[in-house]
Amino acid sequence: MKKKIFKTQDGSPSFLIRELDETYHSKYGALTEASYIYIEKGLSSWIKKNNKKEVSVFEMGLGTCLNAYLAFCFCKKNNIKLNYYAVEKFPLSKEEIELLGMEKYLPYPKFHKLFKWLNSSDWNTNNFYEDFFFKKSNSDFFDSKINNKCDIIFYDAFGYNAQPEMWGEKALEICSRTLKPCGYWISYCSKGSVRRCLEKLGFEVDRLQGPPGKREILRAIKTV
Ligand SMILES: C[S@@+](CC[C@H](N)C(=O)[O-])C[C@H]1O[C@@H](n2cnc3c(N)ncnc32)[C@H](O)[C@@H]1O
Repeated sequence: MKKKIFKTQDGSPSFLIRELDETYHSKYGALTEASYIYIEKGLSSWIKKNNKKEVSVFEMGLGTCLNAYLAFCFCKKNNIKLNYYAVEKFPLSKEEIELLGMEKYLPYPKFHKLFKWLNSSDWNTNNFYEDFFFKKSNSDFFDSKINNKCDIIFYDAFGYNAQPEMWGEKALEICSRTLKPCGYWISYCSKGSVRRCLEKLGFEVDRLQGPPGKREILRAIKTV
């Protein structure tokens, strides 16, 4: 599908897919959204709550590797070992990543070379960058078979209108299976039907204040 590059409100770029009327990130700020939702309310919150020095993250929808990069930087700064698993059904090409030019807007210049490494590392193999483990699978989320292994899921699918199947019980059940007890599921989503479905699956769901342009987001904790 053809993608158009646009500048989000914090200056960082993102892709728009016209056919789906969907963007890869919030138009109010790609970097702001990723840092606030996935790092502050996801990764950082889980680490503080569980007081751990190692964490395993699963990302649904790797896209540009922005969330993976920010997670790595957070863990490096805080001396935490990170294992990162991600699925991506429609990988971006090298040319698309280069044209996007996200690198110029990334924090932590000393880690910029990692952003390139994340995007250029091999698919479907175990990759290591120092003690950081990274495996990106070029596969459909519905084929994921990572059972009871992850502490946090960054759930970053396209929105309900474009991909309703990603927000229904079958998909959320896979998330529940993927997570260890007390694991976090975090997303930009605030949809009532998603919250109710997570609750039905045994999650404790919090409605948190959203990033700029978004009133609420959901964070769910696996209780069973
Ligand atoms: C909103 S974008 C995510 C942006 C990304 N997290 C980033 O930081 O750039 C949604 C991503 O999910 C991927 N995707 C959509 N359906 C999928 C599926 N069934 N399995 C795996 N990936 C999927 C898309 O190709 C796209 O890269």
